[in-house]
Amino acid sequence: EKLFQSNQRFKDKKVVITAGPTYEALDPVRFIGNHSSGKMGLALAHALADQGAEVQLVAGPGKYPIESGKVFLTQVQSAEQMYEQVSSKYGQADIAIFAAAVADYRPAKIADQKIKKSDGSMTIELVKNKDIAAEMGKLKSDNQINVGFALETENEQVHAQQKLEKKNFDLIVLNSLNDKGAGFSHDTNKITIFNRQGTAIPFGVKSKKEVALDIVNAIYDLL
Ligand code: CTP
Ligand code: CA
Repeated sequence: EKLFQSNQRFKDKKVVITAGPTYEALDPVRFIGNHSSGKMGLALAHALADQGAEVQLVAGPGKYPIESGKVFLTQVQSAEQMYEQVSSKYGQADIAIFAAAVADYRPAKIADQKIKKSDGSMTIELVKNKDIAAEMGKLKSDNQINVGFALETENEQVHAQQKLEKKNFDLIVLNSLNDKGAGFSHDTNKITIFNRQGTAIPFGVKSKKEVALDIVNAIYDLL
């Protein structure tokens, strides 16, 4: 059911959203990943589609039940695949939202066969993945809006504002882990939204659907 009466204020807007984790393969049966559920990105996709936007959701592994004819799902595994998909869609987008928990590193080599254990310890060499949000930030034109996320365990306000600058975001959504019921694998979040003027707008603990509407309202204010 809808939380608020829907309007069509994002009619004719095209949106790209990244969501979920990425899985970085080690061998045919193993990967390095994280616990992101993708629920925030999925909620944003539906909130924007409800208000008239056409949404390209580029999501890592997970379940993304699509309840709108205006949400188009492309599923990927790795950060490299996510980068390829986002790159191909970004040029058409009015708004890009980077909600994915992209792996910062991937194994330097993917073994062809299942890695066998041997005596002693094992070291895996990792190489840096491309920063999808930062790369799209370099391509951003005056009529595009980029929105990022940050999850920090210390100096969260300073780190969030540094990420906004570094990645050329128009807004950054800081997810607070400190409060009960907020963060990964929960249905609720506690966020603060920062804009380029350095204004911080704090919100209370809410469902991800309600949080999505707060973010959508903040994006609408920039249009
Ligand atoms: N992001 C991305 N591609 C990456 C890494 C991050 O698009 N390879 C995006 C995330 O989707 C998020 C924002 O960048 O919107 C910030 O991600 P975060 O992991 O908090 O920042 P990092 O720059 O990776 O810094 P660190 O993990 O060291 O805090
Ligand atoms: Ca990171």
